Amino acid sequence: MTQTPQETLANLLSEERTFPPSPEFSSSANVTETAYEEASADRLAFWDTQARRLDWTKDWDQVLDWSNPPFAKWFTGGELNVAVNCLDRHVEAGLGDRVAIHFEGEPGDSRAITYAEMLDEVKRAANALTDLGVEAGDRIVIYMPMIPEAAVAMLACARIGAPHSVVFGGFSVDALSSRIDDVGAKLIITADGGYRKGKASALKATVDEAADRCPAVEQVLVVRRTGQDIEWHERDLWWHEVVAKASNEHTARSFDAEHPLFVLYTSGTTGRPKGILHTTGGYLTQTSYTHQAVFDLKPETDVYWCTADIGWITGHSYIVYGPMANGATQVMYEGTPDTPHKGRLWELVQKYGVTILYTAPTAIRTFMKWGEDLPARYDLSSLRVLGSVGEPINPEAWMWYREHIGGDRCPVVDTWWQTETGAIMVSPLPGVTATKPGSAQRALPGITVDVVDDDAASVPNGGGGFLTIRDPWPSMLRTVWGDDERFLETYWSQYKGMYFAGDGAKRDDDGDIWLLGRVDDVMLVSGHNISTTEVESALVSHDTIAEAAVVGATDPLTGQGIVAFVILRGASESSPEHLAELRSHVAKTLGPIAKPRQVMVVSELPKTRSGKIMRRLLRDIAEDRKLGDVTTLQDSSVMVRIKEGLQSGSGD
Ligand code: WTA
Repeated sequence: MTQTPQETLANLLSEERTFPPSPEFSSSANVTETAYEEASADRLAFWDTQARRLDWTKDWDQVLDWSNPPFAKWFTGGELNVAVNCLDRHVEAGLGDRVAIHFEGEPGDSRAITYAEMLDEVKRAANALTDLGVEAGDRIVIYMPMIPEAAVAMLACARIGAPHSVVFGGFSVDALSSRIDDVGAKLIITADGGYRKGKASALKATVDEAADRCPAVEQVLVVRRTGQDIEWHERDLWWHEVVAKASNEHTARSFDAEHPLFVLYTSGTTGRPKGILHTTGGYLTQTSYTHQAVFDLKPETDVYWCTADIGWITGHSYIVYGPMANGATQVMYEGTPDTPHKGRLWELVQKYGVTILYTAPTAIRTFMKWGEDLPARYDLSSLRVLGSVGEPINPEAWMWYREHIGGDRCPVVDTWWQTETGAIMVSPLPGVTATKPGSAQRALPGITVDVVDDDAASVPNGGGGFLTIRDPWPSMLRTVWGDDERFLETYWSQYKGMYFAGDGAKRDDDGDIWLLGRVDDVMLVSGHNISTTEVESALVSHDTIAEAAVVGATDPLTGQGIVAFVILRGASESSPEHLAELRSHVAKTLGPIAKPRQVMVVSELPKTRSGKIMRRLLRDIAEDRKLGDVTTLQDSSVMVRIKEGLQSGSGD
């Protein structure tokens, strides 16, 4: 069988295991199979119903205005206030004493903040911002550690209609100042520092330098978290002084459904960052709906924990807006999972009785490497739903998560979405779907995704291609901030009338969707498009491998040759026989076409700050080139260590 490279993405990995929900889970689930039927009968009526989860002060005229595609308007003419939906209405309903956030600082300090307390603080902060001259439409940059004030700051901005742009607290002066400039912010909210890996790590110094470079910045509002020494400038103000003295009386005004809520720059592994614009009504509708549907949230009894940072879209949609719109109780943790010990997450699950856990494959693979005896020391029996997001999850990592964290009883929901989509798009529903390790499976009710070939034709079951979204959805990005051209070019130019996600995907024989990684990472071997994800999953299915990253390196014979970088489970050295065995293992699992040309053992992998593997840099090593731009790496010295420690095996 020959395939031309243009045709499809090869479909190599097959998976037989499935896990239907228990009858008890299904019988009390928030969402049942009928949701799919309702949504497909009338998609806009479905979203109309979901929007009524929220409190609107003015009803909308039209659910969707798609008269000028791809510039969508949802719930046109409708008005609401996001902060009121996340806080005031819960307090008014008598839920003021419910804990909104169980905060756990890295050093072990903790506080429980109720919805009434959150509301009080957000009202004060909203008044303080207004007193400082902030008006609706003004942009505010937030550069904070993972502390409750970060959520308060976001909600205060939302309350007064000032779009926020949160910049991840680990980003450099360059990254911060270019975002401040691009979004045109006059005010920055930051903290002196935050606790990470056992020490106070500075944030304010980075803001000082960035603000010096951005003349438009007039004020910097500083939360005191660590008490470390900081320089003080004329533009600086202490949060605790300004916010404490502001009034806690604040009547929120409503904003148009399409009022900008925030701009978030994509973490992207290549290219200049894009400011993704999200607006008010559609975004809150879809984050709220998906949070209750995908995690089966029961706000009265669940304790939810999403381990993302608020600097990423996951933190926006599934720490702040979705959960709080739903009145959830959640855990927020400041630090890293290995401080002061590698069981910290499990200790916190036990301490707070966490019932729903949402984390990333990169974290799960790290926990696998650390070994299952760590989680086994804690009582994790409170857990009932597990979620994954950020990258394709390898079937073996999925199985490990299910067994060693979920005690074989919790549904695992692998949720596919992007900064651009704003909310979850493809995912199992825990009370409905028989889950499959490694597959995100099915578009949520009200969402139309497709896997298409180069000519925009749907691929049949068993085929591979590119993930697209056929119909507009409520939480979709509205544009790239200040750059409509780039919005059109990046997302809408590949296929007429369809959103191009930039991810490879396939449909298995049951029609379930599998994500195969970024299209830029696809390898072309002897005329076959092979996804890095499938080869990595095959390697991780070998019981000696904890993590793998695969790249295509130029090969005179085959076009590209597959080069694999692997991290061993509980060992640091391999043998030539072992490396040969790994190569054959892939050939056996996926077919000879996918056999790596070379396998290299490394102790770590280059990752972005949000945990995605930077294959571009590994390609530089595989092709023995000078290293490219390393500025978005989590730790820039990792490349030197990888090069120095390489142990490699190759053959035939
Ligand atoms: C990848 C994170 C496979 C994908 C919410 C996407 C995933 C990019 C999954 C967006 C998943 C995210 N399975 N791949 N469940 N979730 N991705 O903008 O390549 O940080 O395009 O948003 O992450 O990353 P972003």
